[in-house]
Amino acid sequence: LGEGPLSGRRIVVTSGPTHEPIDPVRYIANRSSGAQGAALAHALAALGAHVVFVTGPAAVPPPEGVEVRRVETAREMLAAVEAALPADAAVFTAAVADWRVEGAAQEKIKKVPGGDLPQLTFRENPDILAHVAALGPQRPRLVVGFAAETQDVVANATAKRDRKGCDWIVANDVSPGTGIMGGPENAVTLVTEDGAESWPRMPKAEVAERLAARIAETLA
Ligand code: C5P
Repeated sequence: LGEGPLSGRRIVVTSGPTHEPIDPVRYIANRSSGAQGAALAHALAALGAHVVFVTGPAAVPPPEGVEVRRVETAREMLAAVEAALPADAAVFTAAVADWRVEGAAQEKIKKVPGGDLPQLTFRENPDILAHVAALGPQRPRLVVGFAAETQDVVANATAKRDRKGCDWIVANDVSPGTGIMGGPENAVTLVTEDGAESWPRMPKAEVAERLAARIAETLA
């Protein structure tokens, strides 16, 4: 680690889920193992990048050789990403919870058998990717988002790229039956300003290596 085409480059990678508390013992979250994010951070570091790895509570441990910033909620993730800037590139692999629970309880909510059920009110979380993509001078030169789709992958990813204002979208088909969600392999389509490129199904580590190589080419 240290030497390579990304030597001297600083790259922020978000990974894992976020947890949004309901009370001190309960939360809502998206499903995310953090496997693709950890693999990508490892691949970028292997090419010499200084990686700031901003991770929610993931199942997969962070790779060696990266600077780890642990967060729990989307708002903490946003703050950690902002604190990590400026950077040459930022890659958003995290599965951020779209909503948080308004007025999370400070004490454990007591279960009253047969009694009133708790009512949750949600608030929208910040969109970290869209926020960073819209920054002025602090905007990384390359901003990459991920998109988990179950249909019309290219059309949806292209629309997402426009909506989020990022440079690339890495889209994957997570339809039931693909075994991709939580599995060892991924099949991605890379959407850039030049169009969409579908890669064959391959191990997540290889997707990470290919993406890291593309990022290195682009930042060169
Ligand atoms: O809108 P959607 O969740 O499908 O977008 C996915 C992309 O946006 C991912 O790159 C994800 O990390 C990022 N994202 C984010 N903050 C959010 C929601 C999504 O950074 N609140």
